[in-house]
Amino acid sequence: MPVRQLRFSEPEALYESIRLRIEDEVPPGSLVAMPTGSTPLPLYARVRANPRSRALWATFRFLQLDEYFEPPAGAEFFRDYLRRELFDPLELPSESVLDIEPFSHANATKRAEQLDAQFQRVGPPQLVVLGLGPNGHIAFNEPATDFADGYHFVELCPTTVRANVGSKIPNRSHYALTLSVPQILTAESVYLIVPQLEKQTVLDRVLGGPVSPMLPGSALIEHPNLSVFRRDTQSA
Ligand code: GLP
Repeated sequence: MPVRQLRFSEPEALYESIRLRIEDEVPPGSLVAMPTGSTPLPLYARVRANPRSRALWATFRFLQLDEYFEPPAGAEFFRDYLRRELFDPLELPSESVLDIEPFSHANATKRAEQLDAQFQRVGPPQLVVLGLGPNGHIAFNEPATDFADGYHFVELCPTTVRANVGSKIPNRSHYALTLSVPQILTAESVYLIVPQLEKQTVLDRVLGGPVSPMLPGSALIEHPNLSVFRRDTQSA
């Protein structure tokens, strides 16, 4: 099935289209998963500024996609980011926030099992919205020899850490917990948002197939309801 690609010459139109599409497609009370990073910030600002969006988004339940074991210098816990950008401004009740509490190496496996049990209980999500890592990662599913299933603990690629904190080269390993690719694929609908001109080439590789765990985002091309919001490089 061909992937639905929506191309925009201006980022403003891209973010407005996502906001309107969510309002059209996602019923009140739905379970959704929203990404962190720089990509979704203009979307969240639009939601905060629009009373109709706020009213709908305040009914959603939010599943956190991924979390650092310990944020690299210059980064923050994704839970804090999501609280600041969405959860607190929307004044969500605590039962609507299915976030990932900080964890240690000692309890990471147990935390992953708890998150899987929660996913079984509340899932599948109506909508998962994703950004794309420079190496084709989605959430924190890094290039690997196979697609792990269930929440799992990963060592982050140096390119990922560098992209997330600016240009500094990480001087040690960094780890994270992430929802798996097979779990993402259970969502009713998946949006992949790639507004960065410099990521259009990796996006073309992701969408061109074949599906490979070395390019984790490529798994999305088999999802029956994937929408890709990207830049129109012809007119950019
Ligand atoms: C991070 C996050 C992803 C995010 C991606 C892109 O590593 N784990 O959820 O989509 O990188 O980040 P950015 O939007 O800052 O380019």
